[in-house]
Amino acid sequence: MCGIVAYIGKRQAYPILIKGLQRLEYRGYDSAGVALLNGDLHVYKKAGKVSDLQKFAEGQDVEGTIGIGHTRWATHGEPNDRNAHPHVSNSGNFALVHNGIIENYAALKEQLTNSGYTFKSDTDTEVLVNLIEEVKKQEDVSLEDAVRIALNEVVGAYAIVVIDRTNEDSLIVARKGSPLVLGIGDQEFFVASDASPIIEYTKNVVYLDDQEYAVVDRAGKFTIKTLGNIEITPFIQKLQMDLESIEKGGFEHFMLKEIYEQPRVIADAVRGRMSASEGWIKLGGVNEFANRINKAKRFIVTACGTSWHSGLIGEYLIETLARVPVEVEYASEFRYRNPIIHESDIILAISQSGETADTLAAIEVAKERQALVYGICNVIGSSIARVSHAGSYTHAGPEIGVASTKAFSTQVVILTLMALQIAQQKGTISNSYLRQVLYELENLPKKIEKTLELDAQIKVIAEQLKDAQNFLYLGRGYNFPVALEGALKLKEISYIHAEGYPAAEMKHGPIALIDEQMPVVVLATNESAYEKIVSNVQEVKARKGIVIAVVNEGDKQIKSMADYVIEIPQTEEILTPLLTVIPLQLLSYHIAVMRGANVDQPRNLAKSVTVE
Ligand code: AGP
Repeated sequence: MCGIVAYIGKRQAYPILIKGLQRLEYRGYDSAGVALLNGDLHVYKKAGKVSDLQKFAEGQDVEGTIGIGHTRWATHGEPNDRNAHPHVSNSGNFALVHNGIIENYAALKEQLTNSGYTFKSDTDTEVLVNLIEEVKKQEDVSLEDAVRIALNEVVGAYAIVVIDRTNEDSLIVARKGSPLVLGIGDQEFFVASDASPIIEYTKNVVYLDDQEYAVVDRAGKFTIKTLGNIEITPFIQKLQMDLESIEKGGFEHFMLKEIYEQPRVIADAVRGRMSASEGWIKLGGVNEFANRINKAKRFIVTACGTSWHSGLIGEYLIETLARVPVEVEYASEFRYRNPIIHESDIILAISQSGETADTLAAIEVAKERQALVYGICNVIGSSIARVSHAGSYTHAGPEIGVASTKAFSTQVVILTLMALQIAQQKGTISNSYLRQVLYELENLPKKIEKTLELDAQIKVIAEQLKDAQNFLYLGRGYNFPVALEGALKLKEISYIHAEGYPAAEMKHGPIALIDEQMPVVVLATNESAYEKIVSNVQEVKARKGIVIAVVNEGDKQIKSMADYVIEIPQTEEILTPLLTVIPLQLLSYHIAVMRGANVDQPRNLAKSVTVE
């Protein structure tokens, strides 16, 4: 959560900071602020969006070729002007932006208060900037040393940038647990929480590692050290992403663009990893650890939110195809409940951002107990990708809408390939079945395109249902996790209460909710449980619920009972989630737009949850 950005060089910093903050706004949008050095320190901060900050700064002095910026997702203290970053030390000499949480901030605040410091905000960040000031004063050291010493006293997670009112020629950045990228230009540097604010200026970047800091200067020099004060040789990487991938490209919202990207990203996710005609699958990570993976007695999936839903699909896939038991755990619970983990277990850590704090902590628990951690991440070079023993990238490209769409689909694709590859190696599926599924996977982008053509019809359904107060989503087998995902999508962007249920569970409670006001989205594409779903639809209709059924093309029975029918192309049963999720994403999207909600930046949420 929170996005940070900084610049030092020959250009005016303010426009770079504002544009960067707009690109990072998906990480938090409670308040925003900048600090610029130009003879003196100028700080502008405002509750609300980056656009509110821009309005506030209009007509003010925003000159300067060095500056820092921040867009906030509140942890300590409510989202208001006072708590917005940057925070300035008591002397007015140091300004700091921070992404993360300082866990021991209360104790540090007490010490500083006893030494005479006062605080204007409720944040942990203001404590950190004053701690740096106090260390500098007490130890009589350089700012670099003061930052390093202060960070060694801090418990928690951070990515920070610090500037000094009396020195316009350098800035200091540091990270532990929160991401930070340093972009290297020609005698200029860009700093950001991810590469999106940097990409249009330079492709040369260094991803700082945990417990590392860098001092960068106007002359084009930078030094990276560990918090133990040991200099390290930087690893300069070339960014793979392009500018187009982080812009809306004619779509009204990033979410809609990302929904429409699914045919392409699914093709990208399988490219070079399988061949239907030759009957092979090759996930590098699975190959590398084939011995351990094939002997595993159990897989444990750990993830949060949408990634957890794809993990549930992974459970069905791996158990069905490879015949190995799978457990699916919320990372936030797993990490705290002293789970039983054996060395022979494989931990599948699934995360779009690769930065989710709970998932990272769950990985630590698993690594302590010697299990093999396999990361399935979208963001290249992210923390989870780096701490995993092995893994596969999903190659969905930047996902900017807070509601996950294409990340989900590509995670499911990787899990499908993984289950098939293990099954092939263990001999638990036949070669002919394997080829049949692989051919279908190759065809799937076309079928998704066909499903996307239903958009106009889904929009009409959304118009009819947009004022509902509650929604129920029902599915069986592979469609049960999709029902959960459909409900989450609707909740998070339209603020309508929604619940996903295994269709047969409905009679054990939720059926009491059904009346003529209740829309019930039924995923009814399963070949193996079709008759059972028919009965579930009848149960809903008998209680006057409004049925929106997602069925296979040509369906007759459910079509005759449902109030609204969405007919999608038929596919292999194990691949159904990749098609059934599409109308649910579109339905949520249109309902949210019609209700006037901010689809890409829903209230109270942020794209990557880097706090517990
Ligand atoms: C999905 O729409 C969510 N916004 C959220 O549930 C998300 O999937 C979750 O926070 C996990 O994020 P990750 O995949 O980046 O780890």
